[in-house]
Amino acid sequence: MEESMKGLKRTCYCGTVRSADAGREVTVCGWAQRQRDLGQLIFIDLRDRTGIVQLAFDSATDRAVFRKAFSVRAEYVLAAKGVVRERSSKNAELPTGGVEVAVTELRILAGSETPPFAIENDSGVKEDLRLKYRYLDLRRPDLQRNLVRRHQIVKVAHDYFDDSGFLEIETPDLIKSTPEGARDYLVPSRVFPGRFFALPQSPQLYKQLLMLSGFDRYMQIARCFRDEDLRADRQPEFTQIDFEMSFVTQDDVMAVAEGFIRDAYKKVLGVEIATPLPRMTWHEAMRRFGSDKPDLRFGMELTDLSGLLKGTPFRVFAGALAGGGSVRGINLKGKADALSRKDIDRLGEWVKSYGAKGLAWTRLASSAETSSYEKFLSREETKAVRAALGAEPGDVLFLVASGGNKVVFDSLGALRCELARRFGLIDPKKIALLWVTDFPMFEFSKEENRWVAMHHPFTMPREEDIDKLESDPGNVLAVAYDMVLNGNEVGGGSIRIHSRELQQRIFRDLKITPEQAEKRFGFLTNAFRYGAPPHGGMAFGLDRLVMVMLGCDSIRDVIAFPKVASSAELMSDAPTEVDAAQLRELGIAALPKGE
Ligand code: AMO
Repeated sequence: MEESMKGLKRTCYCGTVRSADAGREVTVCGWAQRQRDLGQLIFIDLRDRTGIVQLAFDSATDRAVFRKAFSVRAEYVLAAKGVVRERSSKNAELPTGGVEVAVTELRILAGSETPPFAIENDSGVKEDLRLKYRYLDLRRPDLQRNLVRRHQIVKVAHDYFDDSGFLEIETPDLIKSTPEGARDYLVPSRVFPGRFFALPQSPQLYKQLLMLSGFDRYMQIARCFRDEDLRADRQPEFTQIDFEMSFVTQDDVMAVAEGFIRDAYKKVLGVEIATPLPRMTWHEAMRRFGSDKPDLRFGMELTDLSGLLKGTPFRVFAGALAGGGSVRGINLKGKADALSRKDIDRLGEWVKSYGAKGLAWTRLASSAETSSYEKFLSREETKAVRAALGAEPGDVLFLVASGGNKVVFDSLGALRCELARRFGLIDPKKIALLWVTDFPMFEFSKEENRWVAMHHPFTMPREEDIDKLESDPGNVLAVAYDMVLNGNEVGGGSIRIHSRELQQRIFRDLKITPEQAEKRFGFLTNAFRYGAPPHGGMAFGLDRLVMVMLGCDSIRDVIAFPKVASSAELMSDAPTEVDAAQLRELGIAALPKGE
């Protein structure tokens, strides 16, 4: 029989009871973490979101209360009143480990079936099972702490942007579909059968319009939806700390973003971040780290070997150079004896997923020096390559050659991070924050056979590059910037186009016809007729930021009810089929599976 709280009032949280409370009467509420029955003595660890306190029942305890304590099982919900006293044997690992509550009144507020897994960190339970019972998983102290920290970071954002003169303004979640980038999630309209709203991929256009309306400084903790392939750092719905400012340059936007990140680290983690943050151009980031989100917590930079190998007879390298690509390498220092031939072969397969045809290597092990490519090079070339990579006994050199520089960068950039992770080269205490700037305006999409916007089509090209927009689009740089934290893109933004003519020109360059542009984005470009201020802004990916700040491996660890890689939500089993009647009302018919 479940009892009520009538006549009882919680006086404190479990995790807050301390020795200084000895002699005080308290009432605590929570879940039974475990019950230990030692015959004459019963202990119950009572847990709430602040921690655990020990409830004690002994020969002095009222017999009815003792019997009730005896019946308590894991995850029962209890309220207990009693007197705090020093423990006879203290537990130094718990903040409340010096005390216990000698219970005088116990209520069982709710029973519990045996949970499918024990509520503890590192239980080794498969994530799918944990996600199916997410409400139980969320009782784990690690997840509770993560969500508390997430709340604190959001609180800092509200305070910081408010103090800096930003207004929080909500933009709609049912909007027009304007896919550019990821796929839209669509919502059918009942009133207009056959028509659809889209869920926003970001509040981008609305925040630009708010600048046009004169709000000057906008911010929003905005929910975004993108139907894209998921990875450990992506969710189909996620949250941005989104902001936009009028009459500013890139430096102004960056200074605001830096102030927020400084406050977040200081107020939530007690860590000082030095600002302004270092900046690196996109080209430098690619050249040195093979990535537009370089992890600066370790070295192992890329070296361009193309110049040294210009005249090489080795066909693989010569072919790459002739194709306009490059040969680049990295040096894994001192690990030759820790990396077997088999490991190297596996890495060779692994880089293929980044487009590389293979991985050339030299292993300077103590037993022997072996190499997959040196036999094809002249002595001078081998010497020059080794010297350029700073090779010493014990090192392993990895080279990638490709006619496309993107492949070289992607594969070596990923390999660099993978090796650092495997060999523990990353100091987990380090915080490496930087800006990556001067992104290319466009990248060429082979699938679509057209240039697409690297950031988004509303980004301003650099003034000095505007006359190259059509003649040399590949070399136009944008006034766009990403904030990178420990090798993760935690935010990105740009200065925007605010001229109707330039915006229309960019649409043309992207092979969006004037009719399509008018239909999709006319509400923005037409607004530019009526006095648009220069403006720019940025959005932090809140989930990703919290994940990296807290050192979590997965974005799911900082989201209360996340989705899995297939975009399904395992607890509620969404998405589900709906009634035929619901579809009919919306004027929709589902195709049979497979069509
Ligand atoms: P962008 O698309 O770069 O820019 O997104 C901004 C930040 O949001 C995070 N992010 C994601 N987090 C989790 N799951 C996802 N699927 C996901 N996609 C993006 C990243 C990223 O840096 N409107 C522009 C911002 C602007 O220009 O002001 C925008 O949305 O951390």
